[in-house]
This record gives sequence, structure tokens and C-alpha cells, in this order.
Amino acid sequence: MDGHPLSIDEARLYASLAALGRIGSYTDERTGLVGVNRLALTDADAEGRRHVVARMGELGLTVTIDRVGNVYGRREGADAGLAPVMMGSHIDSVPTAGMFDGCLGVLGALEIITTLNDAKRRTKRPIVAAFFTDEEGARFGTDMLGSAVATGRIELEAVYALRDRAGTSVKEELERIGFVGPHDVKLAPPHAYLETHIEQGPILRARGVDIGVVTGVQAISWHELTIVGKSAHAGTTPMNLRADAGVAAARINVKLREMIASGHYGTEMRATMGAIVPYPGLVNIVPGRVVATVDLRNPDDALMRASERDVIAFYEQVAREEKVTISWRQTARTELVPFAERVQARVASAALARGLSHARIISGAGHDAQEMAHLCDAGMVFVPGEYDGISHNPREYSTPKQCADGVNVMLDVLLSLVDE
Ligand code: GLV
Ligand code: MN
Ligand code: MN
Repeated sequence: MDGHPLSIDEARLYASLAALGRIGSYTDERTGLVGVNRLALTDADAEGRRHVVARMGELGLTVTIDRVGNVYGRREGADAGLAPVMMGSHIDSVPTAGMFDGCLGVLGALEIITTLNDAKRRTKRPIVAAFFTDEEGARFGTDMLGSAVATGRIELEAVYALRDRAGTSVKEELERIGFVGPHDVKLAPPHAYLETHIEQGPILRARGVDIGVVTGVQAISWHELTIVGKSAHAGTTPMNLRADAGVAAARINVKLREMIASGHYGTEMRATMGAIVPYPGLVNIVPGRVVATVDLRNPDDALMRASERDVIAFYEQVAREEKVTISWRQTARTELVPFAERVQARVASAALARGLSHARIISGAGHDAQEMAHLCDAGMVFVPGEYDGISHNPREYSTPKQCADGVNVMLDVLLSLVDE
């Protein structure tokens, strides 16, 4: 921006997103679109990790890796004893991702450090660029794993023991890819934590807003259900003798819609049955078992609790009525996390100073920043996404300018924090 002391390089940032996006890329057979599959702790994730670690080394950062595979790159400050300002996010992805989710925060942090290095800009506080292990939760069932361990919400041993659907544990995979670092997982509180991220939703783009000032992250509750009925022949088994696990799952899914429509849980409740996996999953067999997931979100903690209570009661009702057993376990649960007012104010004024429009917005998705908010003042900068902000999908796309705007705002907020 004219007259502004320091800005990042838009083309360089975008090229670095594209370079990381090539790691784990695949072509969707149906659409021909190129997506990213860097599921946590797979070979592709490992390659992405090595790529980012190498870049941290080139920037002169001191890299430390902790025992859950979180990676921190530190740029020393004039006063090394002061708590650093940390920027970060994640580079693992859902299996059907684009190249922006998480990566913008990590590569944006590296782009900012590149810019500071080129400008020979010293800061009083150290700066740390971080990427956290398995933010997505798409493989081992629980999200924000690395940041939740670093901030003490989840114990390391509990995370090590989590297994994917093939039965492989987090510990085994971390060891296999060589990312069990020597450093203690418990993070000393930074001075502040900043994360730039794509909105992953339609709001900013539809309103023509350049920058989202993120007020917090809504409550999230995940259940994994195992529904067991009786497998039987589809042609010969009378309807009244069936214990159909598929019907039970379908009824719960429809119930989620009815709960939304009832309005009893506020206008912002969201509910999704993202996995419905029948066994044996064949045309002429009544499914004897279904594994299904329920994802509830709500910006209001009390309404979230009410929806959890009612959906659990419905599991029991369906089990009785369909003559199946339903066991369920909580795989993730976080309350509403508000972000620090002072960080929000700085994001807003940075946007203003750069001539960018801004609006306050609550995050619908989970983020590492919500874990870091338990340790220090934390905040997020959202940028809009094209195509209704579609995300967790190969169509995910934010323009080079949208990405650069968000990272420039994060740069300004960082500079307002590093010398105080
Ligand atoms: C993380 O991407 C989430 O599910 O919100
Ligand atoms: Mn993300
Ligand atoms: Mn995601």
C-alpha cells in the first residue's frame, strides 16, 4: 500500500501456497479438479512437513519439534528473554482439500518473516512461526490434536493412543514419519498468537468484505456412533423382524434436521451426519452395523448443551424403537472460545489503515487459535473465499490479493505486538 512502511510480496506468497499445494495433490476423477490430500501423519503430510521445515531453515529460523510433532521456527528478538509473538496454523488436510485451509496461516507467517528479513527489521520480541499436528481430525477422529496438547487441554498419552479406522495409532505414525521431536509438548505462553485463515464459508464474499475480524470460535461437539442391529436377507426377512442399523442412522440424521427446524437451539445451530458407513454395505443385505458421526456446532454454549442432551435422548429412543443398540463416544468437544478484544481491535484498525473493508465474524470452523486462546491473547484474520467460500473441497479458492490482504493485516498486527 502507498506510504505503508512494509508489505508482503503477494506473488511470492501465492507461489509458496502453490508449491506446498503440489505436495499430496491429486486429480478428482469425477470433476477433473486438482485437490490436496495431506491427511495427518501420512507420507504426504510428512513430505509437506519436511518442505516447510526446510523453508524455515532457509529463513534462518531455529526449528524445534515437540513430541507430538508440532513444529516451531523461531526468529530471535533483540530481547531473547521476552515471550515471543507466535503465528501459525496447520498443514495437514482433509482428504479432499484445497491448498489454502491452514496453509495460508503457516506460509503467511513465513512470508512475513521473509519480508522482515529482507527489510533487516529487528524486533524486540522473538517471532515464532508454528504448524500444529493434525488440526483436521479427519483421520484419528479428534481435531486440533497438536495445539490441544501444546496448551494442555488434552494429554499427550491420550493423543498417542488414538487410532485411525485401520487401527494405526498416532504414536506409530509419528514415529514412522520421523516427527516425534525431542521437545516437551507444553508450550510456554507466548505474548500473543495470530492466525490468518480462509473463512471457509460464504459470508465475507457475499457481503463484499475484505477482512474478517474473528470474534471467536463457536462450540463444537463430535460423536461417533456404532449402531448394531441384525444383518439379514433383504428379500426374505419380514419387515417386522428386522433390526436395521441403517434405518436407525437415517432417523438420527433426519432428527438433526428437525432439531434445526424447531428453532429451539437458536438460529445458528448446525448439525451434520458426515459419515454413515453401513456394514456390509450391499444392495440385498439389511445393514447389521453402521458407524456414523454427528457434528454439532453452536455459537451459544447453553443451546449447544441442550442440543447434545436432546440428541443423546433420541439415540436411546431410536435404539428402543428400532431394536438396535447404539453406543456412542465423544470424539471432540470445545466450548465457545472468544478471542482477545485487543487483538480484534488491532486487526480492525490494520484493515482500516490499509483501506480494506472489515467486519466482525464468528468462526464456524475449528482452529488452532482457539486452543492458543487458553494460553495467551489470540486472534484471527479471515479472508473471503470464492465460489461461496467452499472449503474442504478441491474448489476452495481465494485470490492472490485476498490472501495477501489477510497476511498484510497480520503483519501489521504482529508489528504492533513485537515491540511492546
Ligand atoms: C475443522 O476444520 C473443523 O471441522 O472445523
Ligand atoms: Mn484449517
Ligand atoms: Mn479444515
